[in-house]
Amino acid sequence: MNIIISNDYDELSLEAANLVAEIVKQNAYPVLGLATGSTPEGMYKILVEMYRNKKIDFRNVVSFNLDEYIGISSGHPQSYYHYMFSRFYSHVNINPDNIHIPNCQGNDCQVICKMYDEAINAAGGIDIQVLGIGSNGHIGFNEPSEKLYVNTHVTDLAEETIKDNSRFFGKMKDVPRQAITMGVGAILKAKKVVLLAYGSNKANAIRTAFNGEITTSVPASFLQLHSDLTLIADRDAVSLLDISG
Ligand code: PGA
Repeated sequence: MNIIISNDYDELSLEAANLVAEIVKQNAYPVLGLATGSTPEGMYKILVEMYRNKKIDFRNVVSFNLDEYIGISSGHPQSYYHYMFSRFYSHVNINPDNIHIPNCQGNDCQVICKMYDEAINAAGGIDIQVLGIGSNGHIGFNEPSEKLYVNTHVTDLAEETIKDNSRFFGKMKDVPRQAITMGVGAILKAKKVVLLAYGSNKANAIRTAFNGEITTSVPASFLQLHSDLTLIADRDAVSLLDISG
């Protein structure tokens, strides 16, 4: 694992944006795996700035988002659809046909999940997967559990995740209880993975994810199996990690 320790949030965001920009520039048809949450917000801001300054072109980019809530509409201000369009997609020249955000609100979820994985494969797989990490060690909405899933699936959100996400919804009762998420398999199949972690509330998740053990109770621990993983974190997030070796 490559570890980049940043001094502050702006530096973390710039490091992440630079890694994504590199992939976009290197590939004729770059495939991005994108994450939501508060951590990558700065990265999107910088990527939009790069686009405005003509340093990057998203014309041929294909994107796949990691996850989406079930139970709120795409138009809801807390949907990941809304997050992505308001912070990124609406501000760059990505072709709307190339944007993929999983979404199932009805009973055809199984078909939608299968089609999502097929679309990733048809695009040639993900060149760079950006990830945040939950305070409970989740990646995407692959929550700590007795078992994890390889493919895109519907999942119940963990209590800790519902609590963490209540800051965006105001009331606990308004936080969705379910989501559709890419599985751990699709994440691990990405050619390059970039994990972003900021702040002391991620320190324990980072410690348990990278302590040499792999366990379904810390889904991020599976990232240890990836051969091209970069962790970009501030000092607080890695404060419990032994990085001496
Ligand atoms: P955050 O979420 O960036 O809002 O902390 C990360 C995650 O839950 O994956």
